[in-house]
Amino acid sequence: MKAWLPVSYSSAVKDKPISVKLLGEHLVIWRDKGSVRCLLDLCIHRGVALSLGSICDGNIVCPYHGWRYRGDGKCTLIPQLEDQCKIPPKAKIKSYKVQEKFGIVWVAVDEPLYDLPDIPEFSDSSWRAVETGPFPWKANSARQVENFTDFAHFPFVHPELLGDPERPFVPPHTVTRKDNILYYEIIRPEASNTEEFPIFGNPNQEKPMRHNRYQLILPYTIFLRVGWPGSSNGMIYFFTSQPVSENECIGYCVILKNYGEDYSETLKKFEDLIFSQDQIIVESQRPEQVPYDLSEELHLKFDAVAVAYRKAMGESY
Ligand code: FES
Ligand SMILES: [Fe+2]
Repeated sequence: MKAWLPVSYSSAVKDKPISVKLLGEHLVIWRDKGSVRCLLDLCIHRGVALSLGSICDGNIVCPYHGWRYRGDGKCTLIPQLEDQCKIPPKAKIKSYKVQEKFGIVWVAVDEPLYDLPDIPEFSDSSWRAVETGPFPWKANSARQVENFTDFAHFPFVHPELLGDPERPFVPPHTVTRKDNILYYEIIRPEASNTEEFPIFGNPNQEKPMRHNRYQLILPYTIFLRVGWPGSSNGMIYFFTSQPVSENECIGYCVILKNYGEDYSETLKKFEDLIFSQDQIIVESQRPEQVPYDLSEELHLKFDAVAVAYRKAMGESY
């Protein structure tokens, strides 16, 4: 897949190798002098998982016979060889491009068609970021993304938390596409803050509305700016889904806000609850793969985003 795909929060990658799975492939990541490296998690010698090994001088050491590999996959030491100049050129592991952005580690399996976007709020100290999740689901990444962007389910799956069951209508909205990004915005009814989760910055708690401006970055990332009419309070949801395999994914959701006190733990608990409510629904969806052929499910006008997403994914990914 020709895109940058998430494999971990940056904060989770320290001096120990970590096994990650992307598009059905087992990979290993580790940190070497500040930079994250990524190799296929398979020693060329006897096929052992390198992620079971250790890190020495920035190289990964296989746990079976101690062969060492650099971040670019080249073997740098075969302890059993008397002469290290005799390391065969075949002693090499497939390496992958890696970058860190938004507190997330991204890996490219194929050459990406597009760079990751720039989001100024991430480097603006008036916005504070909280990492929620991660959220591993037994579902395809496209199903997880579609659910994140679905407006119509809020009053039913998250009543009193994200939606108001008394106001289930979805206001009209249109979707436009430029390159790999779908743009759309909506002003929709939201639920009032609860005592347990006083997290949203809406000054109006009587039949509150929220203004959402979305960028759906193909294939599996959503950047959402949330605002409230008449207020400068704002939130940002940066959500991305790791396609672990056809039927497994992991969601990462970084939330930024520019108002109020630090309520990181409350926000994490809130998202744990929201994502657990969604997980039951999405893991039940059949077929497991989102059908990109629009005739296969029933789409109404308020499903415009799902329609645009399926069309774009069918065309480009
Ligand atoms: S299997 Fe890795 S060094 Fe032998
Ligand atoms: Fe949801």
